[in-house]
Amino acid sequence: MDRIRIRGGNPLRGSIEVGGAKNAALPLMTASLLTDETLVLKNLPILADINTLCNLLLQHGVAIHMNGAGGDCAGRAVDFTAKDITNTTAPYDLVRKMRASVLVLGPLVARCGEAKVSLPGGCAIGARPVDLHIKGLELMGAQIEITGGYIVAKAPKGLHGAEIVFPKVSVGATENLLMAATLAKGETVLVNAAREPEVTDLVHCLVAMGAKISGIGTDTLRIQGVDRLHGARHMVVPDRIETGTYAMAAAITGGELDILNTRLDLISAAAKVLAQAGVEFTEIDNGIRVSRANGALHGIDVMTEPFPGFPTDLQAQMMALMCTAGGAAMITETIFENRFMHAPELMRMGARITVHGASALVRGVERLTGAPVMATDLRASVSLVLAGLAAEGETTVNRVYHLDRGYERLEEKLAACGADIERVRERDDD
Ligand code: UD1
Repeated sequence: MDRIRIRGGNPLRGSIEVGGAKNAALPLMTASLLTDETLVLKNLPILADINTLCNLLLQHGVAIHMNGAGGDCAGRAVDFTAKDITNTTAPYDLVRKMRASVLVLGPLVARCGEAKVSLPGGCAIGARPVDLHIKGLELMGAQIEITGGYIVAKAPKGLHGAEIVFPKVSVGATENLLMAATLAKGETVLVNAAREPEVTDLVHCLVAMGAKISGIGTDTLRIQGVDRLHGARHMVVPDRIETGTYAMAAAITGGELDILNTRLDLISAAAKVLAQAGVEFTEIDNGIRVSRANGALHGIDVMTEPFPGFPTDLQAQMMALMCTAGGAAMITETIFENRFMHAPELMRMGARITVHGASALVRGVERLTGAPVMATDLRASVSLVLAGLAAEGETTVNRVYHLDRGYERLEEKLAACGADIERVRERDDD
């Protein structure tokens, strides 16, 4: 298995381009199932998770064609055409690789009147049920059975509109039910819907495909079902988690980075917290300049929340940053039950962290020291890379496949800005 080797201590300087958001691209790709015409997605990132979903869509009968750069396509563009859906089953072997595969459920039931999708099961950061997806579809008239590890959904006469009040904010359930509602008969109202930029990006794309949706960007979405959707061209929103991660890379190394193809408003909550900790943000043409103001960082308390709050997907990186800040920081995770798996690994690098239930108290140390580490999920892995960039000596981050799920050419981008970082391929290992 590949590893990343880092010799820490170099301040990062230069510019880094951010790609399209993975978490926007995945639901957008499944939206292609809603129409027999072509959906063109521009600015699609090249990541392991995108490949996994391509494989799933291919076996549903979607034709996928890379049409590259050119014309009005900024960056790479990929065509998705679900002319005939030949198979409505999402098998365990593909769904278990990536939980977001469950996002085919709503579109398949809405378009075909049936779907059989493997239950994704738990993962490294908690139980992660999909009960809200299932209950919402039932309210829209689907009959659902759980059998043999699969969600088997049937709506032979089609779905109908419903009022769905989410007891907790769920990005995935909002996206699944939003897509299903576009082809349901009548009006669906999603109350306490997720407002993450990736959800709003999906709404914009669905509207471009002919969906009738109001309340865009709010927590109440109203969808008037239509008989059919048509093709569209859509540009994937920039990845705010990649943006925030590189902002913290600049901060943790005491450097200065121009982070391009992105926007400050996508990371407002994180930027506000980071500014209080001593990180400086300036809006520049097509991006953000991030530097560490006046040298020192100070500890600051952070609580993860649904958007527009501080994102859970930046919590691990924030913890790495706080490890060498002056004073103490209390980091509280409210979205996932088990998302501090990076804490013991950071402690192996000399961090002083005490975890108590959903909170972690981080007491800043003078410096971290390099060590071999590994993580069990994507954002935890990148937090160890950040720690390695700041640590004295050599850090090896194992299980790099987690990073490849969500960061395109991470080590190349960091190396181009002065980091001493390389990928050690398995065959190069002794
Ligand atoms: C998405 C993101 C993920 C991010 C998360 C929270 C994608 C592909 N992934 O995941 O990176 O960390 O949002 O911002 O976009 N829940 C239930 N029942 C459900 C659904 C969710 O109890 O049916 C719970 C979850 O266990 C979790 C919370 O709701 O505690 C939020 O989860 P949710 O917003 O659904 O996360 P995902 O869509 O899976």
